[in-house]
Amino acid sequence: MTRTFHCLDDLRRAARRRMPGITFALVDGAAGSEISNHLNCDRLEHVRLMPRVLVDISDRTLGKPFLGQNWGLPFGIAPMGMCNLAWPGTDKALAAAAVHYGMPVCLSTFGSSTIEDTRERAGDNAWFQLYVGPSVEGALELVARAEKAGYQYLVLTVDVPVVSARIRERRHGLEVPFRMQPRNFVDFALHPAWVFQTLIEGVPKPANVVLPDAGKSKTTFTRNEIRGHIDWDFLDRLRELWQGKLILKGVMSPADAVRIRDAGADAVYVSNHGGRQLDAAPPAIDMLPQIRAAVGSDYPLIFDSGVRSGEGVVKALALGADFVLLGRAFLYAAGAAGERGVFRLVDLLSEQVALTLGQIGYPDVGTIDRNALAVTQAGDLTDLGSV
Ligand SMILES: Cc1cc2nc3c(=O)[nH]c(=O)nc-3n(C[C@H](O)[C@H](O)[C@H](O)COP(=O)(O)O)c2cc1C
Repeated sequence: MTRTFHCLDDLRRAARRRMPGITFALVDGAAGSEISNHLNCDRLEHVRLMPRVLVDISDRTLGKPFLGQNWGLPFGIAPMGMCNLAWPGTDKALAAAAVHYGMPVCLSTFGSSTIEDTRERAGDNAWFQLYVGPSVEGALELVARAEKAGYQYLVLTVDVPVVSARIRERRHGLEVPFRMQPRNFVDFALHPAWVFQTLIEGVPKPANVVLPDAGKSKTTFTRNEIRGHIDWDFLDRLRELWQGKLILKGVMSPADAVRIRDAGADAVYVSNHGGRQLDAAPPAIDMLPQIRAAVGSDYPLIFDSGVRSGEGVVKALALGADFVLLGRAFLYAAGAAGERGVFRLVDLLSEQVALTLGQIGYPDVGTIDRNALAVTQAGDLTDLGSV
């Protein structure tokens, strides 16, 4: 049945049909008028790759080493809160795919599975993403849990000092904790399969933070809470505490990237949160070559925001990323067909990466560099700086 999905657009269309409007808005929506999200995708489309000929590409390698591990693919799953709202069981499906294909899967602080369960399901493929809410001590408690559970990768997200206004979510009455409104009854009634499955699996809740209506604790954290209490001193403190790989997510400024590198982080994660934060932010792909130029050719960079295909993965690698994560794509896939949808997506992306490598004459994904790019017309592409 999943063979009827030939690209991400097919999966997204099916997800839109199967998911209630309110949860589709959560996944598909972005900040403000959603321009930033559109620009992310649009600018990636404008990047062009150069076809090359007479290269033996009969054997192609898609796996690559990154941050001390040999990954089966050059891409993985970005952290997303409450994935089980896309489709019940999504957390398990993402972990299963991560193990099957050798990809990283990053559990969000707002994940609907516990830190311990995710580590058990995904093993060394599991990364943990940290938000620091009102209590720094509460956040450090989560870090201690992640360490105890055996995580080797900690992703500190720094681009949500305040949660942006997501207009589409507001129109659907989305708030946490959720309060049922009359319009939601109609929405849910029109999506009985999602409702039925959700009732069987249990209504998803944040599994690692405590919502205010469940009583006060150090990890009490509402979705709209200010997360901008922390500063550079916190980064120093975390660097001292966390012995594993430390990754800073949501970096768009070359100056910030250099300072993060100098503070001892293991990688910078270039992202504008998929356009979900500052609607006026530049497209993330435009900043990638500038950040690569600023941090130097060897410093590890991860990229997300706007990647919707294997070609997109290859373009990001050519523009300076060492590794690429995708967000919404995985939730469209889960919304379209649960675990089978997620596996289908990874097969499609892998095929697209392999086909692209063949066309541009790169047998090994690990060797992609800016020579893979085509500059067709002065000024019409991302400024490549001195990548
Ligand atoms: C539904 C949803 C929830 C998200 N939740 C988080 C989160 O909890 N923590 C985080 O660092 N990023 C979160 N993100 C952002 C993603 O990690 C990622 O940066 C973004 O989705 C990349 O853009 P793309 O969707 O265009 O691939 C979320 C994104 C989506 C779509």
